[in-house]
Amino acid sequence: MLTRRDTLWGMGGLSLTLGACGQAGSALSQHQSERKLLKIPQLLSGKKNGAYTEYNLKIQNGTSTFFEGRPTSTIGVNQAYLGPTLKMDVGSTVRINVNNTLQEDTTLHWHGFHVPAKYDGTPHQTIKPGGTWTAQFEVRQKPSLFWYHSHAHKQAGPQVYRGLAGPIIVKDPNRTEPALPDTYGVDDLPLIVQDRLFGNNGELVYARSMHDIMMGMQGDTLLVNGGIDPVFECKTELLRLRLLNGSNSRIYDFQFADRQSFLTTGSDGGHLESALEMSKLRLSPGERAEILVDMRHGEPKQMIATPTSDGMGMMDDAMMDRGMMGGRWWREDNNRDGGRSAFNVLHIVPNANLDPSPSVPTAFMKHAVVDPAIAVKTRQFVLQMGMGMRAGNGFTINGRSMDMGRIDERVKLNTTEIWEIENASWMPHPFHIHDVQFRILDRNGRPPAQHETGLKDTVLLSPRERVRLLLSFRDYSDPDTPYMYHCHILEHEDAGMMGQFVVES
Ligand code: C2O
Ligand code: CU
Ligand code: CU
Repeated sequence: MLTRRDTLWGMGGLSLTLGACGQAGSALSQHQSERKLLKIPQLLSGKKNGAYTEYNLKIQNGTSTFFEGRPTSTIGVNQAYLGPTLKMDVGSTVRINVNNTLQEDTTLHWHGFHVPAKYDGTPHQTIKPGGTWTAQFEVRQKPSLFWYHSHAHKQAGPQVYRGLAGPIIVKDPNRTEPALPDTYGVDDLPLIVQDRLFGNNGELVYARSMHDIMMGMQGDTLLVNGGIDPVFECKTELLRLRLLNGSNSRIYDFQFADRQSFLTTGSDGGHLESALEMSKLRLSPGERAEILVDMRHGEPKQMIATPTSDGMGMMDDAMMDRGMMGGRWWREDNNRDGGRSAFNVLHIVPNANLDPSPSVPTAFMKHAVVDPAIAVKTRQFVLQMGMGMRAGNGFTINGRSMDMGRIDERVKLNTTEIWEIENASWMPHPFHIHDVQFRILDRNGRPPAQHETGLKDTVLLSPRERVRLLLSFRDYSDPDTPYMYHCHILEHEDAGMMGQFVVES
């Protein structure tokens, strides 16, 4: 067990000043003076209904107020923007009724969940305007943060952008979870991080220009649980933050303005084997992580997120060379936020008297050993963005764009495979696979960093990088209904960087 005396978080020499986050720049720091309390999504535990726990979700249009006096048209679930946190128990059977009150087709996908393909909420389970779709499955996940979001055919980008997403927290009612802070909204918070671009009228801007499609939609304002530059009053010594990069395309490095370290305790699909001291954590769209923040020093802390620009310069040059877009416009556009300045994520202000938190367990769980020898098959996936293409036909996996009528891969139930993903393009892509939680074998032949050794469903590939994943296909087979794998930059997904696989018995 770690005690206060351990130097884990380096208590000494704290020099936090609010100026330290002033680097956030223009639009961001303007809101400093009008900080609002962090919004905590309502917790929806569902209603026990015989053998099921039932949830009713209504996808609806709404009007949100991100800026005073400038209303924004949004989409939400049971509310105007985003949706409630669905709390699900391991081993329970859930039934989720999803009612679409929009004027457009949509779907709701349970990102990271292991469910039968027909309940996965992919473009094959479209919910028509006015329609209701019911998904029903047993919760076979490890405790972690997951999320639901639109997976509508070619419309995931704009729908998620307008707000069609929300968190899912899976808990183990048998308390086999490590003793971490777990009072929702008090010392256990989901943080849904999304950048957005607003017009002067307050409306969201989603133009799908060539630039937006290539780079993915990027904004200059960071929303955290649907609010800008929020503050949270912390009442406990330790604060557990469940981070979700719910952005359409931006990749961020999360850290504290004082550069103090934190403990990373979980990845996409579950706890790590033990807590890791880190001072910076990178998350690409779709990825999650759990961290513990020590507030015992009694000083406010500012979490910031720095957008990464990995590969962007090369991308920029490559596109200019081919005369794809006017350089002036490109550069201006790319410099909207200075490219590298940081966004404020959360200002944490500790109470004068903090309630004690449990000490942090040194070991959380044992993961199965990753042994590539148990794989019966290796499949290759090459991600490519064609240059000089017309929008929509250059985003490929293995040279092909998504076709809903084509099954790309057929996998045998109860087998383990290696999937080798290669990023052959000039920009980073977060690769996501449905149905399974996988393990990362290696990156360019080298073992993954420690925080990536746990359960993952989304993996970021740098330009020219090759990553090998180990996946086991269990429980569910359906020769006719596919699962997806795709880039989680939603504009790339919508443009076709997606494929389909079925699991056959
Ligand atoms: Cu988070 Cu196929 O999606
Ligand atoms: Cu998914
Ligand atoms: Cu991509």
